[in-house]
Amino acid sequence: KSHPLNLQLKHPDFSSLQELPDSYAWSQNDDQYPSSPGSFGAEQDSVPVIDLSDPNALKLTGHACRTWGVFQVTNHGIPSKLLDNIESAGRSLFSLPVQQKLKAARSPDGISGYGFARISSFFQKLMWSEGFTIVGSPLDHFRQLWPQDYNKFCNIIEEYEEEMKRLAGRLMWLMLGSLDISMEDVKWAGPKGDFRDASAALQLNSYPACPDPDRAMGLAAHTDSTLLTILYQNNTSGLQVLREGTGWVMVPPLPGALVVNVGDLIHILSNGLYPSVLHRAVVNRSRHRLSIAYLYGPPDSVQISPLTKLLGPSQPPLYRPITWNEYLGTKAKHFNKALSSVRLCA
Ligand code: SIN
Ligand code: FE2
Repeated sequence: KSHPLNLQLKHPDFSSLQELPDSYAWSQNDDQYPSSPGSFGAEQDSVPVIDLSDPNALKLTGHACRTWGVFQVTNHGIPSKLLDNIESAGRSLFSLPVQQKLKAARSPDGISGYGFARISSFFQKLMWSEGFTIVGSPLDHFRQLWPQDYNKFCNIIEEYEEEMKRLAGRLMWLMLGSLDISMEDVKWAGPKGDFRDASAALQLNSYPACPDPDRAMGLAAHTDSTLLTILYQNNTSGLQVLREGTGWVMVPPLPGALVVNVGDLIHILSNGLYPSVLHRAVVNRSRHRLSIAYLYGPPDSVQISPLTKLLGPSQPPLYRPITWNEYLGTKAKHFNKALSSVRLCA
């Protein structure tokens, strides 16, 4: 069947649209409907915020992973100047003319470059967003986009990735540590336990102001195919997580804070103790939203499987071993059912 996406390979210039085109209007009957009621009342519980300098950070992280699958961190050590720099780099990138951005378009099977959300193919309607994925060196893309000052942008990206990698390793031990997992249980963390061979990608997302935000979806609900994701969002809200028994809960932007998602691969490692979180992004009538996701995964050669220490006669492994690449393949085929497709019958 022909997907609307096929008609839209020419990326729209969102800023020129005064009305929401039909191809972007999600249906009210859809349980995904952007303005479906969620937890927006006074009594809502909110996503945990963890101060990483708190002596209880380990316990708090474990609790947040078990009960929410998402939390925000403060005092995380990422310089605020760097967050400002990456935000303005993202802003400059997305404010380039469409024709210019398309010079760095992601190829149909490619992973890096400019384009629509990759999950678009699983939905009938289009999403009100554009993205830019960076895997490995951004140099080639950026040389095309900014012949004059690509170096400046590359340096910001590289510094950001370096800092994120350090923080991600630290978060891994907070998450795993509260399950009583230590270095000898995770050989692929490397001799120093710093996960030096971890793989990662950087995903920049832009959600332009939208004339009809109640019917438009910025990014449809999904779980991340990562160990964990570290998300920086600008001062415009839009990220929502699904909370069982409550509905969609907004993750409010807090100045300087970063959002951490439990991804599908930690879900597998923890044998389901840390469920990956279903989340989505909604859009805004007057404000442009920007988010930058650091997608963190294991080294290419490593098979992720439930940690032996968590298993026992009454805790059989729930998932089969799988590499990050294999998992991405499964996700591309089964999307939000990918986790169940690697489940072992107990
Ligand atoms: C994402 O899930 O990749 C991005 C979500 C957001 O923009 O907040
Ligand atoms: Fe995500």
